[in-house]
Amino acid sequence: MYRERYAWCGNFQDGRCAIRLPGSGYFHVGSDGAPAYEERYRYAGDFKDGHAVVQREDGKHTHIDASGAQAHGRWFYDLGVFHKGHARACDSDGWHHVDMVGEPLYGERFENVEPFYNGQARVEGFDGSLSVIDEMGQTILELRRPSQSRLDRLSGDMVGHWRTQTTHAAVELGVFEALPASAKEIERHTQLRRSFGNRLMRALTELGLVWKDAEDVYHPSDRGSLLMRNHPLSLADAARHWGKESYEAWSGIARSLRTGDSGFERLHGKNFFDWIQDRPADLQAYHSAMSTYARHDYRDLADSVDFTAHDGILDAGGGAGELAFALLRSCPGLKATVMDRPEVIEAARPPTDLERRCRFVAGDLFQEWPVTSDAVILARVIHDWPDHDALRILRRARQAMSKDATIYVIDMVLDDTTGRGGLLDLNMLVMTQGAERTANQFRDILAQAGFDLLDVIETASVSSVIRAKAL
Ligand SMILES: C[S@@+](CC[C@H](N)C(=O)[O-])C[C@H]1O[C@@H](n2cnc3c(N)ncnc32)[C@H](O)[C@@H]1O
Repeated sequence: MYRERYAWCGNFQDGRCAIRLPGSGYFHVGSDGAPAYEERYRYAGDFKDGHAVVQREDGKHTHIDASGAQAHGRWFYDLGVFHKGHARACDSDGWHHVDMVGEPLYGERFENVEPFYNGQARVEGFDGSLSVIDEMGQTILELRRPSQSRLDRLSGDMVGHWRTQTTHAAVELGVFEALPASAKEIERHTQLRRSFGNRLMRALTELGLVWKDAEDVYHPSDRGSLLMRNHPLSLADAARHWGKESYEAWSGIARSLRTGDSGFERLHGKNFFDWIQDRPADLQAYHSAMSTYARHDYRDLADSVDFTAHDGILDAGGGAGELAFALLRSCPGLKATVMDRPEVIEAARPPTDLERRCRFVAGDLFQEWPVTSDAVILARVIHDWPDHDALRILRRARQAMSKDATIYVIDMVLDDTTGRGGLLDLNMLVMTQGAERTANQFRDILAQAGFDLLDVIETASVSSVIRAKAL
């Protein structure tokens, strides 16, 4: 049909054929063998009903039409072709069905879904159930009962604190530092009452944090090794934060929901950041936990957002600086200033390879900032505060920026079609009176502070980057 030769070609459907170039990169050609558009993808599927699924380099999928234009501009972890106006789609919460504009047909998510067939689809629930649903997501027929009953699942949720506290206790006792060891050795090492080593290790086995070999010696599982203090992504300090400060604050959740005040402040008489400033061990543990999450969540941030357009960035409320370090490592021409409370800055140091490009500055988010910048980052800062305080911070940021400068607010963005982020939102309420927000809420609050929201960029982590321009 044409002279070009490719590493691989698919089948012509709707006058388009998927092609792989030698090396890598997929696209579609027309029947004359000429590319149907300029874009190159990590993968491209066959056309059906005028659309094909393509996958970009970060692994996300969308639908394109025959000219290569995006059908709806929504990107999913996985996606099926359209069949009679509906497609299977998978987001961070699971599988569901979307319409031609990429909108979910219903709120529920599933372990797996089949395409709609004359108005009905077979779906498998996360609980192992198999059912037939209609296009509103309503169950028409149960095909297989859940492997776990509703009562079992609810009971499991109601005793979630058993998991939090067992993990916390094991970390506090130093169990993971004692491994590999028998239950008796653990008992001795962590000074447990006789025979209680067995009880603790049985529970940690149930949680999948350790496993026992044929000689009755316990080892950390892959997940459990993250609770060792010397692991580069150690969650040992996070276990302490969730098991202690957060746990206590959560006990007042119902009251916080009535009054809007934080359970933490009610218990301790002070806002979380003022309380922790005089407790060096707690402060160090909190920032060590934040740093692990930052190392994990921000490592690929520079793949999602182009920071190379800036000479320098100001990471306000930047904690121990992990986000700045990740960006400096990805963008060799960039410089960073990390601003935080004095007690945090006092303990923070850049790694030796970044010393010349990174500086730490003490400053208060609520007072005039000591530094100005044309690129300000507020990562997991705005969600710590209720609207009036978030607005005060954004106004201070605006004062530290010139017109047309860019602000990057990094936070989870709630989507009203799912419950995703609902528990984190309540956690922010009980800890600091804070809140997670929808894209529209960010747009409003940014506008009030003198910014125009440009876009919301999804990242590989739970957080998104809300990019806005100073007006
Ligand atoms: C949830 S942590 C986020 C840290 C870091 N940006 C990240 O994403 O990992 C919030 C940060 O805000 C800082 N912070 C809180 N109140 C502040 C204030 N008034 N002035 C400056 N920094 C503050 C805290 O010390 C902490 O480092």
